[in-house]
Amino acid sequence: MKTYLFWSVVVLTYLGTVICEKPLGRRRAVPVIFVQGSHYDVGYDVGRTFSYIIKDFIATYENLRDFEKEYKTDTGRDAYDKTLANMKSRFPYYVKEIQGVADGANVPFHLLFLLQMDDLIGTINDNHLPRNDTGGCSSLAIKTPKSAVLGHTEDAFSETLNHFYIMSAHIIPTPEDRERGAVEERFASLCYAGHMPGYTMGYNENGLVFSINTLSPLILKPGNTPRTFITRALLASKNFAEAERVLRDEGLGIGNGFSLNMIWTDKTCDRKIYNAEVAPDLTGDKSLVNIQGFADEPLVHTNIYQRIKVKEVIGPIIDSSTARLKAIHAHQPPQNQKDIKDIISDTSGTDFQVFQEKKDSIIKTIAAGVFELDKMTWSIYINKPNSSEPVAVLPIRFSMLEKV
Ligand SMILES: *[C@@H]1O[C@H](CO)[C@@H](O)[C@H](O)[C@H]1NC(C)=O
Ligand SMILES: *[C@@H]1O[C@H](CO)[C@@H](O)[C@H](O)[C@H]1NC(C)=O
Repeated sequence: MKTYLFWSVVVLTYLGTVICEKPLGRRRAVPVIFVQGSHYDVGYDVGRTFSYIIKDFIATYENLRDFEKEYKTDTGRDAYDKTLANMKSRFPYYVKEIQGVADGANVPFHLLFLLQMDDLIGTINDNHLPRNDTGGCSSLAIKTPKSAVLGHTEDAFSETLNHFYIMSAHIIPTPEDRERGAVEERFASLCYAGHMPGYTMGYNENGLVFSINTLSPLILKPGNTPRTFITRALLASKNFAEAERVLRDEGLGIGNGFSLNMIWTDKTCDRKIYNAEVAPDLTGDKSLVNIQGFADEPLVHTNIYQRIKVKEVIGPIIDSSTARLKAIHAHQPPQNQKDIKDIISDTSGTDFQVFQEKKDSIIKTIAAGVFELDKMTWSIYINKPNSSEPVAVLPIRFSMLEKV
């Protein structure tokens, strides 16, 4: 079915528009938008600019069909309403950002909000195993005498291939949003079409470079904060302590799971590498958070919990993570940027690869990013990083650090 979609001309009817899409293959394109303004306005401009990509994604993303089905049930609708009410009270300005995207792209808000809920809505009536879960990203980070490097494969459902963009934003909150807690933000993040920035990879101008790995606890907390709101809020964090506070989300807590790889640079140019694992706390109104620092050994993370003891799903996300960890650890520990590029380009696995480019795999590497802090660059590759040139090289800017 997937290969059929891939090779034939697909005619889709959606929202009254007919979209005719030719077979796309793997486009070597990295769309980037630079935007400035309030949360709503920034969202609106992203939506307006990438309307076609967003519409095409929501018309073809099979999981969204499931989410819509669940949304039509009473339990699904309850979970949706409760989550939206909670997010409106805790992060009203991010809800406005999503509304901006919906209005700018001319797509229904609820579809974009369902994308944010992800497995929280997908499992609401039927939490069966094995689960065909989202994600499959590998992250590797090292500190060298002169630099720090983070390499990341952005792996996602094959529909996401060619359906992402980078948002480089300067958010200037409205007085009303400021009163509710919004702050000025400067960041750049890769976004899956129609999703909030933050849940992939990027940096903020306070000194944070990050990447995310989806994690899949078995028991979720629908109604609680979806992980994409936590990672959206992380883009505003000024330092490690603030990031930790955002992860804990005291008073409600995260509803699903993820892992966060961070390199924090401070005013003195000292750099620290951390991995945080985050999971729903089934007994309290906060998230479970486990943070580990890495000084001498490399940070390696895929899509399984390595430290928090939480019951996870069974299914391809776990099998793929185990296979990728094994492939990564079969290499010598990385010493420099070249080693990192070699490891994230590994396609030696039979069923699952670190760089997943097989035509029939459900999860594909849609892009790979390499952050090099000596050069202050973020290189984005569409093909293997050790044998292709980056399609885009973005500057990393830590402007807010200089101001402090
Ligand atoms: C998971 O995906 C496989 C391959 O597409 C499919 O055969 C299977 O039915 C799916 N399982 C569930 C529970 O959705
Ligand atoms: C890229 O890395 C892989 C190992 O992951 C290696 O087998 C391959 O030879 C490398 N390619 C180049 C061009 O260096």
